[in-house]
Amino acid sequence: MCGIVGYIGNRDAYPIIIKGLHRLEYRGYDSAGVALLNPEKELNIYKKAGKVSNLEDFIAGKNHSGKIGMGHTRWATHGAPNDKNSHPHQSGDENLAIIHNGIIENYGPLKEELIARGHQFKSDTDTEVLIHLIEDIQKEANLDLREAVRVALNEVVGAYAIVIMSKKDPDQLIAARKGSPMVIGVGDREYFVASDATPIVEYTKNVIYLNDNEIAYLKRDEILIKTIDNIVQSPYVQELELKLELLEKGGYEHFMLKEIYEQPQSIHDCMRGRIYPLEGKVQLGGIKDYAEKFKNADRIIIVACGTSWHAGLVGEYLIEEYARIPVEVEYASEFRYRNPIISEKDIVIAISQSGETADTMAAIELAKERGATIFGICNVVGSSIPRLTHAGVYTHAGPEIGVASTKAFTAQVTALTLMAFYMAQTKGTLAQNRLIGLLTELEKIPDLVQKALLSNDLILEIAKKFQNSRNALFLGRGSGFPVALEGALKLKEISYIHAEGYPAAEMKHGPIALIDEEMPVIVIATKNSSYEKVISNIQEVKARKGVVLAIVTEGDTEVKAMADYTIEIPHSDEAFLPLLATIPLQLLSYHIAVLRGCNVDQPRNLAKSVTVE
Ligand code: G6P
Repeated sequence: MCGIVGYIGNRDAYPIIIKGLHRLEYRGYDSAGVALLNPEKELNIYKKAGKVSNLEDFIAGKNHSGKIGMGHTRWATHGAPNDKNSHPHQSGDENLAIIHNGIIENYGPLKEELIARGHQFKSDTDTEVLIHLIEDIQKEANLDLREAVRVALNEVVGAYAIVIMSKKDPDQLIAARKGSPMVIGVGDREYFVASDATPIVEYTKNVIYLNDNEIAYLKRDEILIKTIDNIVQSPYVQELELKLELLEKGGYEHFMLKEIYEQPQSIHDCMRGRIYPLEGKVQLGGIKDYAEKFKNADRIIIVACGTSWHAGLVGEYLIEEYARIPVEVEYASEFRYRNPIISEKDIVIAISQSGETADTMAAIELAKERGATIFGICNVVGSSIPRLTHAGVYTHAGPEIGVASTKAFTAQVTALTLMAFYMAQTKGTLAQNRLIGLLTELEKIPDLVQKALLSNDLILEIAKKFQNSRNALFLGRGSGFPVALEGALKLKEISYIHAEGYPAAEMKHGPIALIDEEMPVIVIATKNSSYEKVISNIQEVKARKGVVLAIVTEGDTEVKAMADYTIEIPHSDEAFLPLLATIPLQLLSYHIAVLRGCNVDQPRNLAKSVTVE
């Protein structure tokens, strides 16, 4: 949430900052701002409500010189998304400027104290309080800026990734993090800082991931990292594995569409080197040392948020079916505040695309304190969650820029499938022949997903019929239920049509009251163990004049005869239904949203990475 980017070096900072903000815009787009310091020691700050392009138009023709600068794109927490609350914020004497991602929880009492000491505030933000605090400490204790920042950070409670510049110290950027991500790019006599590596990758592949409670003091020729307890750290420079072309739309109209179409590849990448169908073997390097844990596990608890939580529900079906370990799937935000009963024999699997979701991180910390073994399933390499967990499996889906998750979801489901089979193999709960059969089918999934994508034109036509709907109901049974939930989430996120996902049989206990001839009911009705039951549910909908769109297995005739619209997906083992049935639902939401004129890549009020609770 909120994107931050900074630069110090010998190039013009502004083009780097503004391009970086465009790359980070998926993190928040309520407002944007930049600060630039030029050789005349002028600190020029420009900020505007709305998207980065608004800011760019505003700055056109104004002085944006300087070889040191920083920028921010905001997802509002404290204070309305207007010009005044946009970052950067300044100290009272206007010498210091700050950008911030996170929340300073004790900003209220700090603000009162500072007001009592004569400070005046221009915004409603917690961030402005922090920069005033630094100014206050610097003046009162007569400290240099480095020390004042360190002392101030010891006084704040909450989460932050910050970058600070000073007019009086024009050759330095100071960056710090606690609970919010921060990457430093190391160039040739230049440094970059950013919330993630996307603004950095085209300039350097050498990065340092700042740890919690660390402050980086950056000069053109020097980097010093200290903890907030004043202990010097040796920076660990690592090579970034991120391809620049994955951050571009590559000819697609939207990132979301590109990412939907990348799924044959991303699912393949997630499985690569991990499955051996001929031998009937799954190999997961990240968790291979934990075989005994799986053998002895009493229970698996999956914690996640949003789409990742839906992947967790699919995981529940797969792990219980194949590895015979009881699974509970929890919203991380509820789990963390619920005093859950956790034992040392429990395994917690935390699922997160970004690896930065605040609630998921807090749930991990809680489970860890209580002795559970924690595994992560994350997409962003080097993000916080993989560093918090004991071990894990990366999904390798590549960067996902569209705010609504698509390829990350199917990669998470793939990773969970691999984990379920790995656990089954370890525990001996799956006959070798069956595992060989399943892995042989799994290997074909990327091609089958490719085939499912061929229905795009048909789906566009169906989308035209549904584009003016006010509500929609998504139904599924078994692992089709989480698919229905994910289908409903996708539709409401990007098209703003109210949608609900329901287990098909539960429809009778409430949602059936909503059904009329205006209401599209999207049903996962593929040929699997619940096929006949789903057919009954479709009949119940039709009897109430509902409009049925059914996702069916290719060659189906029975459902076709009763549904208003059908979309076929290729046949495969029931285990892989979620990977295939999700594809048409993603395309349906995408087309409906585009037809309604919505911004599919940046839906209103949402952010890709939710680093505040
Ligand atoms: C936000 C995103 C969703 C995502 C959820 C969890 O709401 O918009 O797409 O599913 O956060 O994020 P995570 O990075 O933990 O998977």
